[in-house]
Amino acid sequence: MIDTLNTDNDITRRKFLKTTAGVVLGSCLPAPLLSLAEAASPKKMKEFHFSASPAKINLGQGPEFTAWTYNGKVPGPEIRVTEGDIVRVFLKNFLPEGTTIHWHGIPLKNAMDGVPQVTQPPVMPGDTFVYEFEARTPGSFMYHSHAGYQLDQGLYGPLIIEPAKMEESYDREYALVLEDWVMRNGGGTARTERRPPMGMMHGMMGRRRRFPSPNQGALWEPVYDGYAVNGKVAAAIEPISVSRGDRVKLRLINASSATVYYLRLSGHTLTITHADGNPIRPIVSDVVRIGMGERYDVMFTADNPGRWLLAAADTGLGESRLRVPVIYKGVTAKEAEPPLFHRGLRSAAYTEFEARRPTDESESPIDRAYDQMLSGGMHGSSWTINGQVYPAAETLLVTKGERVRLSYGNHSMMSHPMHLHGHFFRVVNPAIPRSHWVLKDTIIVDHMQRIDVEFLADNPGRWFHHCHNLYHMEAGMANVVAYTGDTVGSGDA
Ligand code: C2O
Ligand code: CU
Repeated sequence: MIDTLNTDNDITRRKFLKTTAGVVLGSCLPAPLLSLAEAASPKKMKEFHFSASPAKINLGQGPEFTAWTYNGKVPGPEIRVTEGDIVRVFLKNFLPEGTTIHWHGIPLKNAMDGVPQVTQPPVMPGDTFVYEFEARTPGSFMYHSHAGYQLDQGLYGPLIIEPAKMEESYDREYALVLEDWVMRNGGGTARTERRPPMGMMHGMMGRRRRFPSPNQGALWEPVYDGYAVNGKVAAAIEPISVSRGDRVKLRLINASSATVYYLRLSGHTLTITHADGNPIRPIVSDVVRIGMGERYDVMFTADNPGRWLLAAADTGLGESRLRVPVIYKGVTAKEAEPPLFHRGLRSAAYTEFEARRPTDESESPIDRAYDQMLSGGMHGSSWTINGQVYPAAETLLVTKGERVRLSYGNHSMMSHPMHLHGHFFRVVNPAIPRSHWVLKDTIIVDHMQRIDVEFLADNPGRWFHHCHNLYHMEAGMANVVAYTGDTVGSGDA
């Protein structure tokens, strides 16, 4: 019956009724009063209080250990707001060293970007800093510390901006934060086995070493022993529960420091709908490859009752690799069916992504171009862009209003998820019209691959640009995009 009344007016009315009910229950305010208040201040302020502090955590299986946390939890609390809201986060530092929070993927004012030395001095122990930004771009994002190795000690969390006007329909939604863990005090900084940079020495590729760190310089990647989803590993991972017929939206958020996942769901087809928060023409992918810092929203239809697994391929992750049960209500099967990873499976490539809406109508040529050759790992432990080790790296100067191209190459043996702060870039793709080049903020550049991206320089400031492998970033694979004529970190967008 209700379906036949499915006119715009009716949807509005039903929504309104729902809202009213919620309001009455929640605050005991008469609904009309609240509507007036809302009309008077369309931009809502959403406040959050974060204490960064060491805390004992437990990933549901394995040892208890001390990690660095927001409010005692890993991942940190979910920030979920609506497009147009003003987000205000009070960060109080109870850690023994300085910290910051970076709002990964969000184009905000430079002074709020949270990169120590680049946009703000670190927030020192005992101090408080207030971050504030407008949630202008709907989508799946994350936040994390940008100081030292703190990301790999547990300081990250999901950040979801719901669109002001819903344009998708689904019955259930789950945000899945993917995390790689060293389950020992200190997480990624623990004294643990580490991998020498791949290709560093002949015959040593990928072999583990019991080095707590190289003799000098940055830490090498740890050998992880737990892959968590929302702070739980292995059998403790919270299942996704569905009912037959549900349309299920998963927000995949890779907050890992050094792990790329290849994800596949048994018994179902995954359709990618958003890349780094941005809507794309829905594309089916056998396997979803997700690099550090990337986010994909995927959708599936629950049309195959049973007990299934969303699992990562075992690309060196071993037995601890990540597996999320997907369980239909009322199904009794005990054993979950794992997905098969066999030859011939495809993971959708960036070149197959097409923006759902035009991302740029202008045909004006690019004003500036920078080659960014990624390299390193060969001698010693540094990772480089154009042979340079940050902070001794060329600043990429741009002028407001310019269209800037970054041309990536990769002469190293590893893949690098490159991330630009403060902007979305468009992935250059000669096969489709420029107006539909997909917007992203993080892109994996593989061994010997070339990828070009372009961005519109519309957000003055000093913006960090780096590999989102934390250990590559700390070993120098970074530089700064700076606007000419802009005072350092003034952030007047
Ligand atoms: Cu997740 Cu510099 O960023
Ligand atoms: Cu890298």
